[in-house]
Amino acid sequence: MNILFLAAEAAPFAKVGGLGDVAGSLPWALKHALPAADVRLVLPLHPTIDAAYWGLRPLTAFTIAHRNGPIAAEVYVTQYSDLPVYFVTGVPVLAVPGVYSPDPHADAVKYAFFSLAALALARYLDWQPDILHAHDWHTALAVHVLAHRRGSDAFFAHTRTVLTVHNLPYMGSPSPLLLEAFGIPPAAEDSGLPEWARTTPLPMGLAAADAITTVSPTYAREIQTPEFGHGLEGFLRARRERLFGILNGLDTDLWNPATDRALDVRYTRSTVALRERNAAALRREVELPQPEGRVPLVGLVSRLTVQKGVDVAAEALRLLADFPWQAVLLGTGDPELEDAMRRLEAEFPQRVRAVLRYDDGLARRIYASADMLLVPSRYEPCGLAQMIAMRYGAVPVAAETGGLADTVRDFDLAPRRSTGFLFPEATPKALAFALRRAFALFADRRRWQALQQRGMAQDFSWERPARAYIRLYRQLPDFV
Ligand code: GLC
Repeated sequence: MNILFLAAEAAPFAKVGGLGDVAGSLPWALKHALPAADVRLVLPLHPTIDAAYWGLRPLTAFTIAHRNGPIAAEVYVTQYSDLPVYFVTGVPVLAVPGVYSPDPHADAVKYAFFSLAALALARYLDWQPDILHAHDWHTALAVHVLAHRRGSDAFFAHTRTVLTVHNLPYMGSPSPLLLEAFGIPPAAEDSGLPEWARTTPLPMGLAAADAITTVSPTYAREIQTPEFGHGLEGFLRARRERLFGILNGLDTDLWNPATDRALDVRYTRSTVALRERNAAALRREVELPQPEGRVPLVGLVSRLTVQKGVDVAAEALRLLADFPWQAVLLGTGDPELEDAMRRLEAEFPQRVRAVLRYDDGLARRIYASADMLLVPSRYEPCGLAQMIAMRYGAVPVAAETGGLADTVRDFDLAPRRSTGFLFPEATPKALAFALRRAFALFADRRRWQALQQRGMAQDFSWERPARAYIRLYRQLPDFV
């Protein structure tokens, strides 16, 4: 089985968010689950990627047709842990300094070019994909274009397509002119899409894909409702037989408290009590006072965006000012939310530290120290923080939405199977109520430790999702 995997980002080459984690793990997990498969990953050669460091070799060059004249594309390749990874560059890629541009038009051109170049590459390699697996709006146009060509082009006649949605609201900008310039037709009138969506990259890909997946079963259901569907709920409901939710995995080698070099003290499930030494070290590191007695240390590690509900977290902590807690908050993002974090620290200088930067090491020390980790997302297609938290023995206190609902089991609902605390919606009151339940259980050291250990025993590895994707790939011919 030939699997062509397209994504805007993949760790360790380029990573902005969770998509980078998934695309940096899943191709290798697929290969591991099905050694006979030929899995190949294609990424843009973002200017931030150090070609010499990764040992990239020039492979080929060709052009992509454009109304203003052909655009040159160059492709580089490297072998990374036994899989070929291709990198595409050209003027539209060089025009954006990072992975994504603040200018939606520059981003749209970059990713239309990239999507077309990835298909051209398969042809250059004379390597017919059985599966094209694309991710998010950035590569959705490849799915659309392939479906269009399939009828007339023998090379792609047998290729089946999967489009994974990691974050529905990010659809790419609707741009009839840009599509026309690249010779890409809009989605068909009978595609079932609303008019605006027929020239918008993500929905165009969704309408063309043989299968649509989201990164958790609950999110697959939620996007069929007006609250989470962003105008596509009707279309998605009509396609529900092609819509699957497959929960993401976690790279259990990269995230392992027994081997994590960023930690002061490494530990396992049976030595989980050692976390207290990490907590003491973390308090020293961020200059929080060492409390007398057992005071819960609350952690938050997040991109600071409206989606993540970090404003809700700040407000909930205020509501609980009478309880003795301490909090360490880590992340960067929207300036307004960074301010909200700073204000909370200014209000509670003895109890709150807000560290507003990207810091992988500190993130790991928070996971290894915090008693509770807050995940108050307004929506969450899958979410990684809650899975890392459980693996590190930090108890998630999470909104019951998307992947959070699928990975965390609430203490009051099923005490002996529970792994955390859930609250019904991302409001300060609801979070404060859940956090109060957590504080109450925290007082009971023995039961608290059992809860931590159940979290640490969860299997979030990529093996299960990889097998689920392969099952899905295998059943695809049935759709056509
Ligand atoms: C997006 C989603 C997040 C998900 C990630 C990887 O970042 O917001 O919930 O975990 O993609 O699929």
